[in-house]
Amino acid sequence: MPRGFFITFEGGEGAGKSTQIARLATLLRDGGKDVVVTREPGGSPGAEAIRHVILSGAAEPFGPQLETLLFAAARADHVDRVIRPAIERGAIVLCDRFIDSSRVYQGLASPEARDLVAATEPIAVAGAMPDMTLIFDLDPEEGLRRAGRRRGADSVDRFEREDLDTHRKRRQAFLDIAAREPERCIVIDAAADAETIETVVVSAVIAALNARAEPGKDGA
Ligand code: TYD
Repeated sequence: MPRGFFITFEGGEGAGKSTQIARLATLLRDGGKDVVVTREPGGSPGAEAIRHVILSGAAEPFGPQLETLLFAAARADHVDRVIRPAIERGAIVLCDRFIDSSRVYQGLASPEARDLVAATEPIAVAGAMPDMTLIFDLDPEEGLRRAGRRRGADSVDRFEREDLDTHRKRRQAFLDIAAREPERCIVIDAAADAETIETVVVSAVIAALNARAEPGKDGA
């Protein structure tokens, strides 16, 4: 049975994930690969409906536990309808944010939300853990500047709006995940220019795909 490859892109605000996902997708498609580009929260019709509820801030007054469950519900639908079918047909799936964003954003919001992220993760992910996660690491001050330039200051979403100290804690939490799971996670220096980042991303992905194609060679 063909099995595809599942890559997630994580990091703070304005780190340049979407630019790199688009570039990588073009390159892989030019090489004849079946590539699915998707994102969270969202990526399936049901999950996109939940995305709107979350990012508008409509769920915020009800607290981080409710938001955690909404992210988990959106993820379960997205995995079920988009990610798993794509992997099963042999596609390469590039997903802008996934479970590590819940671990970091909701996990830092309250101890109860952190426990709920851990409890719902197996249900939402349902075995479809990423094969590879690229963590885009950037000083949050620079990231927020970039995100502001991209969107215009008055369209800042519910999570971008939070204070700098919170963004710094998120940065550290992503780095902690990378340190705990080095076989899955690669930290990308997102302060570099887009061309340099593209070179790093492409070579890491190609190496991982080749290692999978020739499992005997390096024990993967
Ligand atoms: P989005 O506009 O997709 O932002 P970005 O370009 O930063 O990826 O907004 C998604 C926001 O939702 C982002 O601030 C991170 C947050 N988020 C969580 O808090 N938990 C999650 O599980 C996910 C997937 C995203």
